[in-house]
Amino acid sequence: MRLILLGPPGAGKGTQAAFVCRKLVVPQISTGEMLRSAIAARTPLGLQVQRVMDAGELVADDTIVDLVKQRILADDCENGFLFDGFPRTIPQAEALAEANIAIDHVLEIRVPDDIVVMRISGRRVHEASGRTYHVRFNPPRVEDTDDHTGEALIQRDDDREDTVRERLRVYRQQTQPLVGFYRGRAALGEMAFSVINGAATVGEIEREISRVLRLPAD
Ligand code: AP5
Ligand code: MG
Repeated sequence: MRLILLGPPGAGKGTQAAFVCRKLVVPQISTGEMLRSAIAARTPLGLQVQRVMDAGELVADDTIVDLVKQRILADDCENGFLFDGFPRTIPQAEALAEANIAIDHVLEIRVPDDIVVMRISGRRVHEASGRTYHVRFNPPRVEDTDDHTGEALIQRDDDREDTVRERLRVYRQQTQPLVGFYRGRAALGEMAFSVINGAATVGEIEREISRVLRLPAD
């Protein structure tokens, strides 16, 4: 199964990706997480992309496409994968199609802007694993502490309110056109396309996604 999760910042892509990947036993390929790891490790890629990410802009298409093509060669992608935050522009989607990387299902998670801002302002992240919490909606067992490792949680550098507004603007301008792109492909029978109401609770969204993807029950 090869899936794409499409949706604005704060839609819950990372949260739902973790759930779906556990169910389907496929890796979560989050380009945002890969870039943040590169920044933390101070690799040449990390140094190159840090300023762009902190400003809430998109990293160059070629850089991202190379990163993803390399990643999906790994053995763990043999039975499929879930793209979280990729593709994010029409050229990225076209690069996938040109490389004959077929996709089975695209899920668009829809959430209004005011909810996005509320979610992102309360987000806390375990930096090493990318595990995500929310101070109110999905709190860790101990405040500001990762449930699994006991390590401290942080706030992402690009989660300041003005940067979030810029990320929303960039989403609308550069990423939302992918909705029409994939709807068109789905109409030709190349893949399935589903809209998910992302304004519900985490559990309700899990159930909705389980229904459209026909995921196995626990
Ligand atoms: P990326 O890391 O992909 O960030 P994003 O798309 O802005 O999305 P987020 O991670 O902010 O939100 P999410 O949808 O994953 O929500 P989450 O589950 O965490 O990209 C970061 C940057 O990297 C980009 O700006 C760009 O610079 C660069 N980049 C990455 N990919 C790129 C690409 N392909 N091309 C070019 N550049 C690229 O949830 C948010 C919060 O809400 C959490 O606190 C969570 O606990 C909470 N929450 C989740 N669901 C619910 C719910 N149902 N109810 C209540 N709270 C909820
Ligand atoms: Mg995310």
